[in-house]
Order: sequence, then C-alpha cells, then structure tokens
Amino acid sequence: MSAGGAGVVLDAREAVGLVGRRVHVKVPATSANLGPGFDTLGLALARYDELEVEALPAGEIDITVHGVGEGEVPLDASHLVVRSIAHAFARRGVAMPGIRLVAHNSIPHGRGMGSSGAAIVAGIMAAKGLLAGIEEFGADDLLELATELEGHPDNVAPALFGGLTIAWTTPEGPRHKKLMVHRGVSPLVLVPEHEMSTALARSLQPESVPHEDAVFNVSRSALLVAALVQSPELLLAATEDKLHQNYRAQAMPETDRLIRVLRAAGHPAVVSGAGPSVLVLASDPAERADAVRIAEESAETPWQALALAVDFLGATVADVDV
Ligand code: HSE
Repeated sequence: MSAGGAGVVLDAREAVGLVGRRVHVKVPATSANLGPGFDTLGLALARYDELEVEALPAGEIDITVHGVGEGEVPLDASHLVVRSIAHAFARRGVAMPGIRLVAHNSIPHGRGMGSSGAAIVAGIMAAKGLLAGIEEFGADDLLELATELEGHPDNVAPALFGGLTIAWTTPEGPRHKKLMVHRGVSPLVLVPEHEMSTALARSLQPESVPHEDAVFNVSRSALLVAALVQSPELLLAATEDKLHQNYRAQAMPETDRLIRVLRAAGHPAVVSGAGPSVLVLASDPAERADAVRIAEESAETPWQALALAVDFLGATVADVDV
C-alpha cells in the first residue's frame, strides 16, 4: 500500500476510464463489544445501508440520502462515505474522481449499531469496486483502511466480513477471524429515541483497570466465543463485563436500568457498541419475544424492538451496468 493519509495526495496518478464507473454497495449493521469483548468482538446484523456510487469528473459531488440521515448528514465532500472513498484513493496514490452517491440508509445513527463503521466500510468497498482492475484490495487491506478511519476494528470487521468477528491489532495492521454463529442465537436490539456519542462514552473509561477485572473479562470473552458458536445456554454468564459498561452507565441510565431488569430475568442483555441501544443475545425466538415483553412493560421510555438475524455475508460491492 502506498504511503500517505487521507486528504491531498501529491503526485496522485489519474486512473484511466474511471469516470462513468458505477457500483452498488450493501453494508450490514453491527453490534460491537457484545459485553466482555471490548474493541474486539462484533456481530453483523441483517439491517442494511445500500448505496450507488458513480465516479464523476474530478471536483463534482452529487449526494442524495434517503431514509436515516436524510436532511441531517452533509451533502458535500465531508460526507463520511465520500471521505472514506477519498481515504482509500489517497492510500493507493490514485487521484480522487468526483462522486455521485445515492444512499438508502436503514441503520440508525448514534445508537450503537455501527452506522459510522457502515459508512466507512461503504466508502472502502465503493473504492474497491471503482478501482477494480486498477488496484486490488485483499481482506487485510480493507480492514486496515476502514480501521484507520474508525479508530478500532470491532465494528468494521463484522461490517466487512459478516458473522461473528474477533478483531485484533498487530504491528502490521488489524487482523480478524470470522466465525459462524450457532443457529439458535436470536439477536434483539432495543433502540431508544436518544443518541449517544462514542467519543463521550470512551472518555468515561479509566486509563487502567484492576488486574482481577481484566482476568474477569478475559474469561468471559473466551467463554462468549464458545457460547455464540456452540453453547448458547452459556450466554448469560458469557456476557458479563467489567471493562466498559459500568464506567459508561452514568451517561445512559435508561440503558443501564433496562439491562439490569433483563439480566435479572435471565436474558443476556448488554450495551450494543457504545450505546445507548441494548443488545439481547437470546438463544431462541421465544426467549427473544419474552425480552421484548419485558422491555415494553418495564421501560420508562419507548424502545424500538428490532429482531434481527445474523448477517453471514458482510459488505458486498457489484458493478452497475450503465
Ligand atoms: N468498541 C467501541 C466502543 C464500539 O465501545 O467504544 C463503538 O464504536
């Protein structure tokens, strides 16, 4: 990969035949952390943002957003998908074309369902599609580019590859392992009306934690992989956490209370990503329905219940014939 970050690239080369290329990109929602797997574990969920991206002459930007974010997100070069495309082009030393972007979004923003990771992955996949035959992108390249923008790999890994992902960092860049999830696992995301800032959530965590808390999370996150892949009956014990949720609870008290009620009733409820949504990793559809009932009866604010399948495919990109 060529050197250089996002932004102006000196001596970027023109890619011949790029203008007029058009691709369709589809990216799943994700839930990161899953309780104990802070910045490491993530799950792809079957709710999607879909985009059509066309290369235009340099300097032209034409963005249309339907659904989530319509009327709210910027419609210029600061749009996160466009920034992500620009990042991939810059890292490969290819001159950025103009971009026409039509987005149909259904991943809620600011709720802990990986919307920013999805936008970043959409841009990286669009760049891969637009540059097909000119530049090649392997799985590690895609994860590295996306993680450079997102800051941590636990949302972008499942968004890219689907399923349950374990992500880790190495001196050579981030890496991932994708696992298939036991078919009984029935994810439920309970989405409140308010948003939560990931930056604020991260600012509430201490620089260091007690050794026993670290050991607690090592054991639970190892157990969680086994529970999700093979033994869903262990999910309640496997979703305990001491690394992030308690530190962040003051910033999302409704989330904290709902998780306590659900866990007391035996449901493996955790904060989805940095919140404020709640993820319940139910082990069958009947348990999921019971969690929805408890949320409806006990919560002081409304929660939208999204019963979502696990996405096993991850992000896709395909040419659109023009
Ligand atoms: N691991 C991240 C966090 C996920 O909890 O801060 C949200 O981006």
